[in-house]
This record gives sequence, C-alpha cells and structure tokens, in this order.
Amino acid sequence: MAELARILAIESSCDETAAAVLEDETRVLSSVVSSQLDVHGKYGGVVPELASREHLRSIVPVVREAMELAGVAWSGLDAVAATSGPGLAGSLLVGLTYAKSIAFATGIPLIAVNHIEGHIHAVILEQRQRGNPVEFPALALIVSGGHTHLYEARADATYRLLGRTRDDAAGEAFDKVAKLLGFGYPGGPVIDKLAPHGNPHGVKFTLAKMKGNTLDFSFSGLKTAVLRWVEAHDLSAEIEARKTLLRSHHPSVEEWLEVTPRATLDLLASFQFTVVDELLRHALHASEQLEGARSLIISGGVSCNSGLRAAATHAQIGLPVYFPSPSLSTDNAVMIAAAAFPKFHRREFAPLSAAAEPNLALA
Ligand code: KG4
Ligand code: ZN
Repeated sequence: MAELARILAIESSCDETAAAVLEDETRVLSSVVSSQLDVHGKYGGVVPELASREHLRSIVPVVREAMELAGVAWSGLDAVAATSGPGLAGSLLVGLTYAKSIAFATGIPLIAVNHIEGHIHAVILEQRQRGNPVEFPALALIVSGGHTHLYEARADATYRLLGRTRDDAAGEAFDKVAKLLGFGYPGGPVIDKLAPHGNPHGVKFTLAKMKGNTLDFSFSGLKTAVLRWVEAHDLSAEIEARKTLLRSHHPSVEEWLEVTPRATLDLLASFQFTVVDELLRHALHASEQLEGARSLIISGGVSCNSGLRAAATHAQIGLPVYFPSPSLSTDNAVMIAAAAFPKFHRREFAPLSAAAEPNLALA
C-alpha cells in the first residue's frame, strides 16, 4: 500500500491563527485554533494591525501544538499548505511566510489555498467522513464576516461565481447590527441566541430588488433600516446597560435578556429572519437556474446560525443541503488542509516567492 500523505495547513487570513495536520484527505490528526476575539471585542470589529501582531505571537506555538497533537515529525510531512487569500494583508503574510519557511527548511512543497475554497472543502471533507459524499456539480453558498458568495462547484475543483454581495457580507451585517445595539463583537452568535426570544415578523424589512445579476446580494440597506429603527426608538439606556454588562464579562443569554426589551428582541429576530430568507431565496433561485445541480453546500461563519440551519431544512430547495459542523464553520485550518489535498495530488505547488493576495478571487 502506498504511504499515506500528510499535510500541515496554516490559516491566518483574519482573526484566527489555526494549524491542522490531515492524513490521506479525511483523517484529522490535529486541529488547533487560537481566536483573537478578546483582543478585537472591545473595538467592535477586527483591527488589522492588532490581528497581524496577534498572529505573530501565536503562529509558532499554534503550529507546534498541531504537530505535537498529531504526533508527526517534520520529516513525516509531505506538504505544507497556507491560506494565500483573500483576507487581511498583514494577517495572511504571517501564516504564508511561516509556511514558506517550513517548506524551505524541510524541502517539502508549499501549497497556496484560497480561503473560500477552504470553507467549501470543510463540507466536502465531513461528508466524505460521514460516508455520504457531496455530489457535483454543487451550489456553494459561502457566508462569513468577509464573504457572501454563491458558486457552482464542480467535481474537478473548478468554480464559477454565480452571485456575490455588492456591499456588506452577511456576517458583517450581523456584526454591525450587534455593535450598533451594544452587543459587542462578533454579532452573529449573540443575535442567533437572542432571535428565538423575539417575533421574526415583529419588524417588517423589505430588501431592494437587485438590478442586473439577481443572484447578487446586498445587505447594506437592511443595516440602514435597522439604524433608522434604532434612531426612531430611544434605546440609549438599554444600549448603555448592555455595554456595561459587556465590560465586565461574557454575558449569558439570561443576562442579555434582562437588559433587552421585547421590542429589541423583535428587531433582532426580524433582522435575522430577513438575512436568512434572503440567503435561502438566492439558493433556491440558483438551484432553479443551474440545471443539474446535485447538492447545496452552505459554509462559513454565518452557517453556524441555527435559524439558517432550521430554515434550510424546510426551504424545499429540492437538493440535499450540507452544513459543516460548527467547529469547521468558522475559520480553521482543517478546511485549508482539505482543500490542499486535491492540489497535492495534482502536484499544484506554489513557488516560495508566492505572495499573499488580499483580494484573491476563487473564480
Ligand atoms: O468564517 P468566519 O469565521 O470568518 C470569515 O471568514 O469572515 O466568519 C465569521 C463571521 C462573523 O461575522 C460572525 O458574526 C459570523 O461569522 N457568525 C455568525 C454565527 N457565528 C459566527 N453569524 C450568524 N450566526 C452565528 N451563529
Ligand atoms: Zn472564513
């Protein structure tokens, strides 16, 4: 039997420093994620300069821990992969440069991975592990803090962009709304937990009709509608109460509920309902346009959202819908290793001069 291939992957495109070792495409030997949430939380969003500094601090211990947990020596690796884009320039640079130095020192090949392709591969990997592989062509909806992109993903790892956001990403909308209302950063998880306590039809939001490509998304109008609602209601006392709560610790759902009146819960529920509805309407529309689509992949940080997961199972899209498990929905390095394997088999290696590409497109 041929030797099993092992790949060490590094992810540092935004505010998570992550490393993972995968063996033979499906066996996860280790996965380490060091999050910077506490660093950026007080600023209400990711601060690029702080992110690269934190990556510099974490990269060596995170990679060392991934190698130790995997029980693999440098000589036991067949390739090293890193996210080369899209993402924050200074953050990408840390992970990619470290991967290059490993490739240089050990003589193994370097593989450059697109972060969005990584999110798609989180699902391909897990479905393979479950013995229920994703069938292609697949629709892939990648929804995160930086992306809201809809692709056709083909079996040969080629992609066609069907639609994308023209302004804010879905996760960015969650984060901005949460910040506006004093819930801190990141906004998705807290809105997700509070939305079931409100009425999703309590506030009516209408999204503008898309001119041009109807598979494109836009969330900035919704964000502005939330802002207008907040301006029309005096929320300053409750926002201050939430900010005070946030300064001392990570509040529980019960604590948030004590400082969040019914009307604001209705606002959160209605906002989430509108985002989820918009995402699934596009997926449905794309499935009708793309004849022969066999499955729908939904991945990226926002795919953790329980409202989205519940709605997707009832949306009658007519395709099997696959989500990654929550730990592989947000940024991690397992997905980068998973996306690197097909490239490894195709001997698609990157030169040591490969540059970080903050605006790298997948298709
Ligand atoms: O994929 P990810 O970790 O990083 C990027 O590539 O951007 O996604 C982070 C985003 C943040 O905007 C965060 O608010 C959102 O994912 N998010 C959620 C949930 N968990 C994380 N959004 C909605 N519901 C959630 N449960
Ligand atoms: Zn991501």
